[in-house]
Amino acid sequence: MGDCNKKGKFVTIEGCEGVGKSTQLRLLKEYCESRGINALFTREPGGCEISEKIRAMILDPGNSDMSAMTELLLYCAARSQHTKEVIIPALESGVTVFCDRYSDSTAAYQGYARGIDAVTVDALNKAAMCGAVIDCTVFMDLPPDKGFARKGGAKDTDRLERETIEFHRKVYEGFKTIEKNEPARFVSFKAEGSKYETHEAIVCALVRRGIL
Ligand code: TMP
Repeated sequence: MGDCNKKGKFVTIEGCEGVGKSTQLRLLKEYCESRGINALFTREPGGCEISEKIRAMILDPGNSDMSAMTELLLYCAARSQHTKEVIIPALESGVTVFCDRYSDSTAAYQGYARGIDAVTVDALNKAAMCGAVIDCTVFMDLPPDKGFARKGGAKDTDRLERETIEFHRKVYEGFKTIEKNEPARFVSFKAEGSKYETHEAIVCALVRRGIL
């Protein structure tokens, strides 16, 4: 999709585990509903039937032998389907799309943390995005040590959550590097205040950018 066909804005939400993304997305959804804003809330990996099936495969703790490259390709396969089937049609019809994780998660997790080279990750990300352009990325900035402490001892952890704390620290450093390299696209929030304060700050930032 060339950016020219795009009428709606595309917003992604990124961060490490336990940073409160789901809570913020729920509050944003309520905000949009209360103001009659035509918005779609979706997630990655997932967001459509085929991609949800791929999600189950990727996150299954039983697939502990999955290679880093298989993992990268599966995330990108899920993204490609979701982008073509759901995100692009919504953007083209003027809907504001909020996506829980997107290409920066691939760069941070499969690139910086798994160690797959940036040229490969960027090329696959680009192909999987099918020409979609992100207008703004909301980064929930909380180091993984604090995120896991906040999450508590959740029992039903998926394959990625079971990774070592060192892995998740690399993911965090990855996000921080991407943010530093693309300051115009990112709005970052120290995800440590009350959920309502953080929500207000996110709404203000999105209003300033002409997204809400
Ligand atoms: P979630 O728990 O936020 O739904 O995301 C599922 C997991 O997948 C989470 O641990 C982050 C990870 N992930 C990647 O490693 N690469 C990606 O491209 C995406 C979208 C998510």
